[in-house]
Amino acid sequence: MDRLAFASALARDAGQLAHSAFGTSVTVSKGRHDLVTAMDGEVERFIRAAIAQRYPDDALIGEEQGGNSGERLWLIDPIDGTANYARGIPHYCVSIGYVERGVPTVGVLYDPPHDWLYTAARGEGAWRNGERLAVSACAEMTAATVECGWSTRLPTSAYTALIGRVLDAGCAIRRAGSGALGLADVAGGRTEGYCELHINAWDCAAGILLVHEAGGLTSDFFAGDGLIAGNQLLATNAALCAKLASVTGVPITS
Ligand code: IPD
Repeated sequence: MDRLAFASALARDAGQLAHSAFGTSVTVSKGRHDLVTAMDGEVERFIRAAIAQRYPDDALIGEEQGGNSGERLWLIDPIDGTANYARGIPHYCVSIGYVERGVPTVGVLYDPPHDWLYTAARGEGAWRNGERLAVSACAEMTAATVECGWSTRLPTSAYTALIGRVLDAGCAIRRAGSGALGLADVAGGRTEGYCELHINAWDCAAGILLVHEAGGLTSDFFAGDGLIAGNQLLATNAALCAKLASVTGVPITS
């Protein structure tokens, strides 16, 4: 799979560039609790240039510079977990997803602080540094940990209601500030679920494929105009999906 090898090498190079300014890159606020660093822009330009050179006919949408959709589409977040990155908290990654005719086909994340490269290609499994990933087998809500992503794009009350329902159902919750790595944690069985009531495609395109290829399930993020406008997202394992879908209100269809 040519694009998998290409995206893997690119994510690692981009992540090393990002890590060269970890915790020190100039930071600007795009809005309340919505940061961008100088390195977000620099890493996105680096990734765009590499893709444009290798696959000049492919479309690309990136978090910082936008773009247009297409049949062969790259969805990139140069630094997912920007608030962590800016503060010197070692929980962030480069996310590169590739969607062909609406189908997630390649997903790669690179986590520089751990030197972890997560890779998935449709039908070929999910991997971290060459070790195969599998979702948790946990079937008990009272033993489950669910990461609940948060942003200022939705009212506070929607988030507090979500975490209230998840806690009342017996789960533990966490919020670590990178949706992409939150999905990688589900794929690797480190948590039982990831839920966010609005997330953007560049944050989750790669992670959704990781979860599916690790044997997990997700809501249909790409339904409607999810690709462009973002959507709600739930990712979990087969044993918990009905219960978590009911508790979060996010249906799982695949
Ligand atoms: C954000 C993170 C966060 C998620 C938000 C995203 P950014 O992306 O992934 O965990 O909850 O929805 O916007 O700003 O760090 O690239």
